[in-house]
Amino acid sequence: MTPANKIPVGVLISGRGSNLQTLLDASRAESFPAHIVLVIANVENAGGLARASAAGVPVHVITHKGKTRETFDAQLDAALREAGVELVCLAGFMRILSDGFTRAWEGKLLNIHPSLLPAYKGTRVHERVLEAGEKQSGASVHFVVPELDAGPVIAQAAVPVLATDTPETLAARVLEAEHRLYPTALRLVCEGRVTLQNGAAVTA
Ligand code: GRF
Repeated sequence: MTPANKIPVGVLISGRGSNLQTLLDASRAESFPAHIVLVIANVENAGGLARASAAGVPVHVITHKGKTRETFDAQLDAALREAGVELVCLAGFMRILSDGFTRAWEGKLLNIHPSLLPAYKGTRVHERVLEAGEKQSGASVHFVVPELDAGPVIAQAAVPVLATDTPETLAARVLEAEHRLYPTALRLVCEGRVTLQNGAAVTA
């Protein structure tokens, strides 16, 4: 697949960007149906910015500070559209997006979350999984809808929870699963094999 045939993807980050890295790595393969054309961080020192630059991908820093959510989201939207982005991946992006933004990108906005959704939405996921004595956890990639972490699931990967786990060891195991899952899920959406229809993720 030539770059011209691939779907142009924008990635939004706030931190270290290890999931961004797996998307950058996957998109280098000729057969991968997406290429990353823009990375946006809302935090100036997000570690993922260096990963994007090293891969030759343009980066923007758009701070959320001192702006309304609507203004911030309008700036994100403008930058994504100017870069020709057709699909957006949230990868450790720590801002809640406005209803207007999520509706504008409906079916074209993906997020990765470190739990087996719909269980354990929100923050402190691994702590809560351990507190509850779960035997299994995992990662989910889902379409983003206005309600936080509530969008239809595109793909999931499960990992065991060990009796000796701490939040850190469990997070590391889940993160490995995330790194395998996100490129797989992005491929499914780019190839039209999973679409958002009437609020559900539908497999072709
Ligand atoms: C990941 O655990 C992801 O599931 C969550 O934030 C973390 C981001 O990690 N949404 P990284 O920045 O991709 O390394």
